[in-house]
Amino acid sequence: KMDRFIDQLISKMTLEEKIGQLNLPSAGDITTGQATSSNIADKIRKGQVGGLFNIKGVTKIRDVQRIAVEESRLKIPLLFGMDVIHGYETVFPIPLGLAATWNMEAIEQSARIAAIEASADGICWTFSPMVDISQDARWGRVSEGNGEDPFLGGEIAKAMVRGYQGDNSYTSNNHIMACVKHYALYGAGFAGRDYNTVDMSRIRMFNEYMYPYKAAIEAGVGSVMASFNEVDGVPATANKWLMTDILRKQWKFDGFVVTDYTGISEMVPHGIGDLPTVSARALKAGIDMDMVSEGFLTTLSQSLKENKVNVEEIDQACRRILEAKYKLGLFDNPYKFCDPDRPAKEIYTRESREIARKIAAESFVLLKNQQEVLPLKKSGKIAVIGPLADTRSNMPGTWSVAVDLNKPMTLVEGIREVAGKDARVLYAKGSNLTADPELEKRATMFGRELGRDNRTDKELLNEALKVARQSDVIVAALGESSEMSGESSSRTDLNIPDVQKELLAELAKTGKPVVLVVFTGRPLTLTWEEKHIPAILNVWFGGTEAAPAIADVLFGDVNPSGKLTMSFPQNVGQSPLFYNHKNTGRPLEEGKWFEKFRSNYLDVSNDPLYPFGFGLSYTQFEYSNLQLSHSQLRTDGELTATVTLTNTGKRDGQETVQLYIRDVVGSVTRPVKELKGFQKVFLKAGESKNISFKITPELLKFYNYDLDYVYEPGEFQVMVGGNSRDTKMATFTLLEEEKISEEALL
Ligand code: IFM
Repeated sequence: KMDRFIDQLISKMTLEEKIGQLNLPSAGDITTGQATSSNIADKIRKGQVGGLFNIKGVTKIRDVQRIAVEESRLKIPLLFGMDVIHGYETVFPIPLGLAATWNMEAIEQSARIAAIEASADGICWTFSPMVDISQDARWGRVSEGNGEDPFLGGEIAKAMVRGYQGDNSYTSNNHIMACVKHYALYGAGFAGRDYNTVDMSRIRMFNEYMYPYKAAIEAGVGSVMASFNEVDGVPATANKWLMTDILRKQWKFDGFVVTDYTGISEMVPHGIGDLPTVSARALKAGIDMDMVSEGFLTTLSQSLKENKVNVEEIDQACRRILEAKYKLGLFDNPYKFCDPDRPAKEIYTRESREIARKIAAESFVLLKNQQEVLPLKKSGKIAVIGPLADTRSNMPGTWSVAVDLNKPMTLVEGIREVAGKDARVLYAKGSNLTADPELEKRATMFGRELGRDNRTDKELLNEALKVARQSDVIVAALGESSEMSGESSSRTDLNIPDVQKELLAELAKTGKPVVLVVFTGRPLTLTWEEKHIPAILNVWFGGTEAAPAIADVLFGDVNPSGKLTMSFPQNVGQSPLFYNHKNTGRPLEEGKWFEKFRSNYLDVSNDPLYPFGFGLSYTQFEYSNLQLSHSQLRTDGELTATVTLTNTGKRDGQETVQLYIRDVVGSVTRPVKELKGFQKVFLKAGESKNISFKITPELLKFYNYDLDYVYEPGEFQVMVGGNSRDTKMATFTLLEEEKISEEALL
């Protein structure tokens, strides 16, 4: 039915109208890039626009849709997109924080609520999930992804797509189309600098970076966004191998591909041709929609005359955009997502905010808790100190474009509310964000300014010390501003900024117990803090409900259960740092720091400060008795790994049990361990549970030298534990077909 409808529609379209469908201008309500598009209403009337983004509000969207369906010749409805990345007006933790929950139901639920709210406000398409693997904490956009692990990234990609798209039928008006991004390898730019060149072997690409994109496609994601970077010397936006050979032919993707913001015109400075050339190359590579560049709009008809593109290629791209509109139900009802009664009932509701608060609390990672400084008592005097303690706009985090920045509580307010009337909560700013006002300006944009205090550093410090000395405990709210990570926010220094660190050192000298609450969008280097501060809670940017959620954890109403999904380095020189590295020919013996002529550094050990998968709880978990059901696995069989998990502490709590596997000998080198499964489990104080994982040959597959996806017989190590460093180990052998032993047959 859809094919017939679209055939008929295309047969009525002029060339200009077909090219118009490929054009995605920015309405400019929301700042997400440098260029803005002009004369949009006029272009819509002429059929020169396929969709619009950066526009907020159901009434406005309805008005614009009306122009398309009443004033353009063919009355084709528009797609309305937005960067709904970690929530709409109810904002959840930044994606790196969401990933730290290791809770797929919670992540799916966050996307579900985001879809409900966005669709209530006229949006039918989100530029999410972002699933770029990131191993380099210098890159600002690590905050928007799921961290360094392909397997976890793939699970999260699927959960997000389910949350946005439901069963992919779009029968309701509260599911929206997702867009997996940024295809491909955007997270691997040299030196962590945004938009930088990428160069990677295909074997690494397929074994690590491609996995989450592919997972999203298998989950039925409706669209894909091309990345800014080059792949094999060709910008992704013009890379036919990526966009057609892999995406469409190999992975069977049948949705549409949109460029990133000005992705086509940026190929001119990339150095592969002028606007007509790069636009033609993008179309021929398999790009369907041009975000903001207007390269398609302004050059394709001439390129057609010059035989640089053909009409089938234009028809193909146009068809894919029309198909998306058809699937979303916009031809049946262009106002399907434009019910003006919905926003008041469905956006930023009490129920959604309660869920966001719960999820935020689950995303925080307890990095240290010496002598049980935490949880705090809801009594006595609590000093809350730091430039991030009394700000609203800093709470939601980067890429929360639909949020009302005046709504979130400040941390001080959250702590006051949860602490109740028996506690006295005092506040002092203590320092500015950074000593350098220019850096502060760059790091606090788009209404997220912290308000620079004109008092001298000394005056700010003295006030804070006075407050600290009167108190029983100090909560230091320090770290990054929300715009210090995210797009175009790469850093070469991963420390807590200078003046804040000095403040922290002075607070520690008071002798009062200090709890460091770290706001961050990336792994920071907390080496000094780990040595000198008794309790550290990493809270990312937790969304609109972050403040009460932080207080819930600080006071023990919620037992923290977040676990890192990126390794935290000891110093910036270790970047990129990731747990699933190769062994090399000169590995360092475990437990050692340095040995001459081994793969290591003179001045720092190879270890992260906090490993992938790490996170403490107010209770303790013990792992024992790892057992495999069989010591041999046949290629058509399966085995079970079982470990006993015991909550040996005094509180109920949740633990994420992680399964890692090492393929000891391969036809190509294999990582020292790879995450292959995880389960988040709840245990009452004193309780024990057996946790089992099924291991099948499928789980052992990887891309070999010829890029065939295979498993190889031989020895495998199974490691189970609460993080990637501290694990129990057992081994099994994957048998060749003919060597099946008695035991394996049992
Ligand atoms: O979706 C984003 C992308 O992640 C970065 N550039 C701008 C796009 C649209 O806002």
